[in-house]
Amino acid sequence: MAKTNRATFGSKLGVILASAGSAVGLGNIWRFPYKTGNNGGAAFILIYLGCIFILGLPIMISEFLIGRHSHANTAGAYRILAPGTQWKWVGRLGVLTGFLILSYYSVVAGWTLEYIIEAVTNSFSGKTPEEFVASFETFSNSSWRPVMWLILFLLATHFVIVRGVEKGIEKSAKIMMPTLFILIVILAICSISLPGAGPGIEFLLKPDFGKVTSGVFLSAMGQAFFSLSLGMGCLSTYASYFGKNTNLTRTAFSVGIIDTLIAVMAGFIIFPAAFSVNIQPDAGPSLIFITLPNVFRKAFSGLPVLAYLFSVLFYVLLALAALTSTISMHEVVTAYLHEEYKMTRGRAAKVVTAACIILGIFCALSSQIFDLFDYVTAKIMLPFGGLFISLFTGWYLDKKIVKDEITNGGTIKYSFYKSITFVLKYIAPIAITLILINELGFLK
Ligand code: PHE
Repeated sequence: MAKTNRATFGSKLGVILASAGSAVGLGNIWRFPYKTGNNGGAAFILIYLGCIFILGLPIMISEFLIGRHSHANTAGAYRILAPGTQWKWVGRLGVLTGFLILSYYSVVAGWTLEYIIEAVTNSFSGKTPEEFVASFETFSNSSWRPVMWLILFLLATHFVIVRGVEKGIEKSAKIMMPTLFILIVILAICSISLPGAGPGIEFLLKPDFGKVTSGVFLSAMGQAFFSLSLGMGCLSTYASYFGKNTNLTRTAFSVGIIDTLIAVMAGFIIFPAAFSVNIQPDAGPSLIFITLPNVFRKAFSGLPVLAYLFSVLFYVLLALAALTSTISMHEVVTAYLHEEYKMTRGRAAKVVTAACIILGIFCALSSQIFDLFDYVTAKIMLPFGGLFISLFTGWYLDKKIVKDEITNGGTIKYSFYKSITFVLKYIAPIAITLILINELGFLK
């Protein structure tokens, strides 16, 4: 692969926003609150934060350096950095994981489109909390609407992918990320000030360690990988488009902090509101879709115009946040087919989109298949991916490459170099293995 032929991101901000665009998505706003609700609240969040900062950031730096050093798609990266070895299977596992996540993620992304229409047609107004629950159920159990939205969403992703890296990915991230951030802050403030929000805030802040089981650890770790887009070569594919001056450590910290802030704030939007209208925190995947309309309705009760504008804007931004994430998953598989099988980018993208539509339809029509995809990818494939990535950088890869990439050839300080390599060598492999063994019962 000629290095000079590959596209790169245009600016430093573009690099951060595109990576954060991948990381921030339904994982923060839809999946994080519902997993927090299913796993008992504050204690789960604490474990999650530990996973993000202790395991997630070093593994993210690891993916960055693998991608930037090899200038290749994730499978190609291992072929180049570890020629003639079996490490290429780590890249291939990532491609498969990305493909599976994209298929079921697009179903939820499709739901956001349905809610844009509901918001635009003002159908939230005048409904009771029970009616929001009922209308979500009617929608998700109908067959053709979720399928139609799924297909539309994948076609939108396809459209950005064929426009290429800088024009498509970078531009869209630059506009929508900051807007989304501001809106989330406003909504969190509104939700916290709802009457009856107290128990929701307590649920988020007061850990009950009695509820922590081995399953909570695996869920928190899976959620951390999922939310940071880690363990499947997504960030390494993006890093293959980074310029040589990008500071990998600093980029990882920025992405980790943005991603965590948005997830935690999403929690502050959902739980105070859910408790205030008596929605159970463990309602599952429907949680944000049945809770949020209440925030718009109740928080702006005397101001119907504001309620209308906020709800429309929120669902549009949520769909866009999901889009910058689906783009990044799609890119993993498209770059792989394009570079490893010499397909044109356009053709590779078509194959990916078509295959995801087919798998996605199964996920849209069966909640069992949907849950299975979610479980296998987030709780098994991503942690295994993270485990192999840390072993690869910690033990296999030449120390000189690692140091060169982290310090940009010695031009920047490497204050974190030692701690990063220590985590990659020992902490991450041991922690991930223990959590996996513990929950999946390999020892039982
Ligand atoms: N991190 C994305 C989100 O939070 C989802 C994602 C997972 C994207 C894996 C890419 C790879 O929505």
